[in-house]
Amino acid sequence: MTIAITGATGQLGRLTIAKLLESTPADQIIALARAPEKAANLGVAVRQADYSQPETLEPALQGVHTLLLISGSEVGQRVPQHKAVIDAAKAAGVGRIVYTSLLHADTSPLGLAPEHVETEAMLKASGLRTTILRNGWYTENYAGSLPGALQAGAFVGSAAEGRIASAARADYAAAAAAVLSSEGHDGKIYELAGDTAFTLSELAAEASKQSGKPLPYQNLPQADFAAILVAAGLPEGFAQMLAAVDIEVANGALDYSGKDLSTLIGRPTTPMAQTVTQALSS
Ligand SMILES: NC(=O)c1ccc[n+]([C@@H]2O[C@H](COP(=O)([O-])OP(=O)(O)OC[C@H]3O[C@@H](n4cnc5c(N)ncnc54)[C@H](OP(=O)(O)O)[C@@H]3O)[C@@H](O)[C@H]2O)c1
Repeated sequence: MTIAITGATGQLGRLTIAKLLESTPADQIIALARAPEKAANLGVAVRQADYSQPETLEPALQGVHTLLLISGSEVGQRVPQHKAVIDAAKAAGVGRIVYTSLLHADTSPLGLAPEHVETEAMLKASGLRTTILRNGWYTENYAGSLPGALQAGAFVGSAAEGRIASAARADYAAAAAAVLSSEGHDGKIYELAGDTAFTLSELAAEASKQSGKPLPYQNLPQADFAAILVAAGLPEGFAQMLAAVDIEVANGALDYSGKDLSTLIGRPTTPMAQTVTQALSS
């Protein structure tokens, strides 16, 4: 039963393949990558598959039973890209597709949601057996800013006291590996989030505790936060998107108390403090 993973060269793809290798023989796993040379060290076979080059997709999916479609990273391009993958999967005779969506995609106010909603609809219309992994935020998204914040003396954002039920990337990878390597998930939509939500004030306080340096959380108006992100080198559009996400986070967009993630992985999700430790030591 061959399992293929798109986005295998990305951070989630790499972790998923590593986790899958604990339960599945390497010769039953195929890494799909637009740049195969980047996947040479994954320990599994590699095939070229570029979401934007549909002619690469059907050959890459030949003989695949289960496909993990990791959502693309080119925001705005993803509906045609994902459609190309789903069409190719149908043509190649793939048995089931597991897709990484967004927490509460159907009701989420986040600007990232519509592409996931459309992809979920395309999957439903495909007639294939599907499972939707609605991934919440990676704790690393925020923790990655901590070293810079400690240097600057403040952790800035626009999420106010909004609670964030994020989990480590490795937790979402473990969930994907569990679903890929077992049956009983057809037609299911899993809402995946961390066991314990936190605020950005609490995140900053944890980093302060671990580093021994003061780190207040400073809440900023959306435009001011976006300007700081641009000044730090982020592209304007991405900075605006992140600041807009924070405003919705303040309204609870990433809060959730369901336990689908820890249930799927059979252990508690990674505590925020552990991801902070990793961020501060990297
Ligand atoms: N839940 C969250 O907090 C969160 C945060 C950020 C993103 N995401 C979503 O989750 C996905 C996985 O996260 P991640 O951290 O692993 O992201 P990542 O490290 O940026 O990896 C993205 C992967 O998608 C591949 N990709 C992009 N465009 C492609 C194309 N046209 N054809 C084939 N492959 C393509 C990339 O290939 P290359 O290595 O060649 O670039 C890479 O392997 C992201 O793509 C995004 O949709 C979720």
